[in-house]
Amino acid sequence: MQSVRSFLPRLGLRPTRIILVTALLSTVLVVFAQAVLPVHAAHARPAATFTAGCISPSDCVSKMTLPEKEGQMTQVEKNAFTQSGNSISDITTYFIGSVLSGGGGGPNGAGGTATQWADMVDNFQSYALKTRLGIPLIYGADAVHGHNNVYGATLFPHNIGLGAMHDPALITQVEQVTRDEVLGTGVRWTFAPCVCTPQDIRWGRTYEGYSEVPSDNSTDGAAAIVGFQGSNGALGTSNILATAKHFIGDGHTAWGTGSPYLNEGDDQITEQQLDTIDLPPYQAAVNNKVGSVMISYSSWNGLKDHANQYLISTKLKGTGTDSYGTPNLDFQGFVVSDWQAIDQISSDYNYDVRTAINAGIDMVMVPDKYKTFISTLDTEIKAGNIPMTRIDDAVTRILTAKFAVGLFTQPYTDRSYTPNVGSAAHRAVARQAERESLVLLKNNSVLPLSKTGSYTLVVGGDHANNLGYQLGGWSITWQGGSGTTTVGTTLWQAIQQAGLSSSVKLKFVGTQTKGHYTGDVGIVAVGETPYAEGNGDTNTLALSSTDATEVSDVCSRVTKCIVVLFSGRPIIINTQLNQSSAFVAAWIGSTEGEGITDVLFGDYGFSGKLTYTWPNSVSQEPCNQNNGCTGALFSYGYGITPF
Ligand code: BGC
Ligand code: BGC
Repeated sequence: MQSVRSFLPRLGLRPTRIILVTALLSTVLVVFAQAVLPVHAAHARPAATFTAGCISPSDCVSKMTLPEKEGQMTQVEKNAFTQSGNSISDITTYFIGSVLSGGGGGPNGAGGTATQWADMVDNFQSYALKTRLGIPLIYGADAVHGHNNVYGATLFPHNIGLGAMHDPALITQVEQVTRDEVLGTGVRWTFAPCVCTPQDIRWGRTYEGYSEVPSDNSTDGAAAIVGFQGSNGALGTSNILATAKHFIGDGHTAWGTGSPYLNEGDDQITEQQLDTIDLPPYQAAVNNKVGSVMISYSSWNGLKDHANQYLISTKLKGTGTDSYGTPNLDFQGFVVSDWQAIDQISSDYNYDVRTAINAGIDMVMVPDKYKTFISTLDTEIKAGNIPMTRIDDAVTRILTAKFAVGLFTQPYTDRSYTPNVGSAAHRAVARQAERESLVLLKNNSVLPLSKTGSYTLVVGGDHANNLGYQLGGWSITWQGGSGTTTVGTTLWQAIQQAGLSSSVKLKFVGTQTKGHYTGDVGIVAVGETPYAEGNGDTNTLALSSTDATEVSDVCSRVTKCIVVLFSGRPIIINTQLNQSSAFVAAWIGSTEGEGITDVLFGDYGFSGKLTYTWPNSVSQEPCNQNNGCTGALFSYGYGITPF
């Protein structure tokens, strides 16, 4: 602007005129920049210059046309805009209310830095702000163990590990860090926490749940929601919207009813069982003003949850009590469907759309065929199959959340958060969570290891130096990966950085466990390879034969061996338990391997306790606190503490 001011007097303009012309020119420049350079100029635009064409949910609803309302209820996956026939400007044309990144949905394929994410999200936002009323879109992502799709983000143990900490205050801190990293990318909504209560660990999503015990999930889920949203639904521009998912009964499905065994299956249970096992964490979430709830792919006694008006509009959103005296939850936030889930209701898409919306779903995670969804919704509304009161209620709920997170005052990324994604301070919290999550299952006088003694320490196993394996599913990609997929510290790297004196001779054998080596102590890290959702369903719960061999190789060559197991759930380990002197359940999810060395070398004691029953054999499943299962290898609550 300085150069404009000094240039104008030479044109013979008087000072007052200069001010006016300057103001006019800056406006023209800003408008020009917005129109021509939406991608890069977007974040430079001061938030104060943005004013939407409506000032409250009811004001907006009163001004919105039917197409504007339909778009508001539509959530599109970012990659859909690059599919043939689609375009990013469809956000403006169709008034799209929300965009999401699915697992692995980064700016240019999987990963991408925080800055690239912020540029991407702001670019999508610029198209929403070009609409007649300029209603901002809300961008959502699965930040389920940290902002796990973003390269360089701080990743925490998955919920199974957070549950084992038995430290809800630390869960709040973990999710405050996650919130700040999410804010640094312009995303304002996380599809977390999962407050499922898994009853059968053969389910591939077991690790997304804190515990098999409902009250643990109530406590831990509430702690997470407070971390994301602030206390009592404070929200505002320094918090993000949370999602309690998946309503309801995921993790409680009957064997063989899902895809392939349990995921997306059928809950063959009474309402009383639903009320006592699956519902309590949702009550706690609603008490803590969770902003959104995602519906489960599951069915309840044969009816898809997404089609179940009683579940969504009565039990979740309604008041009063059910026939068992259990209160309905009076949920005031908005309900989002799961990924393409309404399509599973029937083979008739018109039926699916009207059934889902009439059941009480407010926003549909389409995620790809948004034009078909919008035209079908339009047809069904115009045919009188969906009442306008239902549409207005859905839109009001969505807009209430958007106002609450401050999108109308600050639609673009607050870039002050961006440099802190993956910061040392954030990683310190993840390291603490990692060490508190570890459960010591066996210790025959080997732990803690000395940092100063004279001994040879052999380190091996295919999980010892593989960050992707340590992280598991929902890490950079949907299914997770192998190797250095992001920034983090493997167990082997952490051992090298643990400050051991030179009298401790380190010998890394990795996956070459068959060589002619000996040692005083061995650490062998094995476990499950990454998976997500149905891909993790198993009918064996077995350690792979490769990993079983690695354990017996290392344990037979050293005097005492310690097994570190990276898994998303208890697996069958009887043989390895007998072969080892110490056994650590390390779960999956964290980028901070130092959390493990903190306890292996005695700087901290073990404190984690199992929140899932550990079976002796797979035939015991489902085996949990709620079904009277006996004869487990380790019971719920087990964990050796302190040394
Ligand atoms: C999962 C949800 C997730 C969504 C978006 C679905 O397949 O069930 O948990 O939030 O995808 O990635
Ligand atoms: C997406 C996930 C989503 C899944 C549902 C994947 O392609 O990346 O986010 O949960 O599809 O099937």
